[in-house]
Amino acid sequence: MFEAAKKNAATAYRLDQSGQTSQAVRYYVNAAEQLQKLINFTDDPSMKNLYYQKAMEYILRVKEIRGIVGSSESKTGSTAAPSTEDDEISGAISSVIVREKPNVKWEDVAGMEGAKRALREAVILPMSRPDLFKGARKPWKGILMFGPPGCGKTYLCKAVASEVDSTFFSVSAANLISKWLGESEKLVKELYDRAVEEAPSIIFFDEIDALAGARGGSSEGEAMRRIKTQLLQAVEGFETGEELLVTVGATNTPWDIDAAMRRRFERRVYVTLPTTEARGIMFQIHTRGVKLDSDVSFEELAKYTAGYSAADIALLCREALMHPIRELDADGALKDASIQPRAPNFNDFVVSMENIKPSVSPKELARYEEWKDQFGG
Ligand SMILES: Nc1ncnc2c1ncn2[C@@H]1O[C@H](COP(=O)(O)OP(=O)(O)O)[C@@H](O)[C@H]1O
Ligand SMILES: [Mg+2]
Repeated sequence: MFEAAKKNAATAYRLDQSGQTSQAVRYYVNAAEQLQKLINFTDDPSMKNLYYQKAMEYILRVKEIRGIVGSSESKTGSTAAPSTEDDEISGAISSVIVREKPNVKWEDVAGMEGAKRALREAVILPMSRPDLFKGARKPWKGILMFGPPGCGKTYLCKAVASEVDSTFFSVSAANLISKWLGESEKLVKELYDRAVEEAPSIIFFDEIDALAGARGGSSEGEAMRRIKTQLLQAVEGFETGEELLVTVGATNTPWDIDAAMRRRFERRVYVTLPTTEARGIMFQIHTRGVKLDSDVSFEELAKYTAGYSAADIALLCREALMHPIRELDADGALKDASIQPRAPNFNDFVVSMENIKPSVSPKELARYEEWKDQFGG
C-alpha cells in the first residue's frame, strides 16, 4: 500500500511539474486515499502523523489545482456535468462506509467496562430494542469518546459495529478533507442523508479533533471550519427524526473541541489506561494462537505493566513473541523448516519492557482527568 501511494505520488508530482496539472489530480487523490488507509491500519502514532502530513500536502495541492482549473473553466463558461459530480460524491461516500463487519469481537475488548456499558446503552440497545428507546428515553444523538492515544477508542467502536446490525459509516477527518475538494458540505449532507436512508446507522468520526482544531485564518482553516459547521448542523439536524442515527466521535485531544461541538456530543465517554485486571486479559488476547512457555503468567505481567496503554501492551506482546524467531534467524536456522522456535517465556516479556515503555506520561494523563472533571465522561 505504501509503495502504491509512493508510486501515485511520484506520478502526480511528475505530471504536476510538467504542467499537466489536471492529470496530476487523480494521482494525488489516489495517493491521499492510500495514505488514508495506511493511517487506519497503523498503530504507530509517528507513522500515522507522517502519513497524515503527506496526505494533507497532496490534498492541498489538489485544491490549489482545482482552484486554478475551476476559475479558468468558469471563464470559458464550461461547468462540470452534474452527473459526474454526483458520481464523485457517491463514490466518496461509498469509500467511507464499512460494509463488512470489522473483525473485532465484543469479547476481544478487555476491560473498558464503563465505556462498554455507555456504548451498549447508547448504541447497541437502542438499535436492537428501538421500542424501548422512545419519548423521554430517546437515545443520544452524539457520543464523544475521549482519552489518551492507544487506549481502545477506535478498537471499541469497531467492536460496536460488529455487534449491531446497522450500517456503519466510518469517517476519519483526514479522509473527509481528502474528499472535500470544494464539495465537502455536500458530502457531509449526503453522508447523513444516506445514513438516514439506511438507518439504523452509526457514523463514526475518528480523530474528530482534526476538524475541530483548525483555527486561524489560513485557507486550510477556512475549509475545515466549513466542514465542521456542516457536520454540526448534520448531527443536530436529525434530532427530531424518528430514524435511529447516532454519531460517535473520538479524540485524543478533547481540549481542541470547541464549545459548539462539545454541545452536540452531549454524552461523553472517558476511555483511559487499562486496569491491572484488564491488562492481564490483554496479554491473553494479544498472545492468542502462540504456545507460550509455562512460566508465563498473565497476572504477573499485568502487575509489571502499570501505566501501559492497550496499544503498548499489544506492541509489547508482538515484540516478545518475536524473540524466539529472531534467535533462530540470527543462527541462520530459519531456512530449515523442520526447526521450530522455542516457546516465548516470561523473560522475553521482561526484556521487551526495557524497550517498550508506557507511552502516556502521568502528566498527560492528568490533563485528561482534568478535562473529564470539567466536562464529564
Ligand atoms: N480493550 C482492549 N482490549 C484489547 N486490546 C486493545 C483494547 N483496546 C485497544 N487495544 C489494542 O490497542 C490498539 C490501539 O487501540 P486504538 O483503539 O487504536 O486506540 P485509540 O483509538 O484510543 O488511540 C488496538 O489496535 C488493539 O490492538
Ligand atoms: Mg483511534
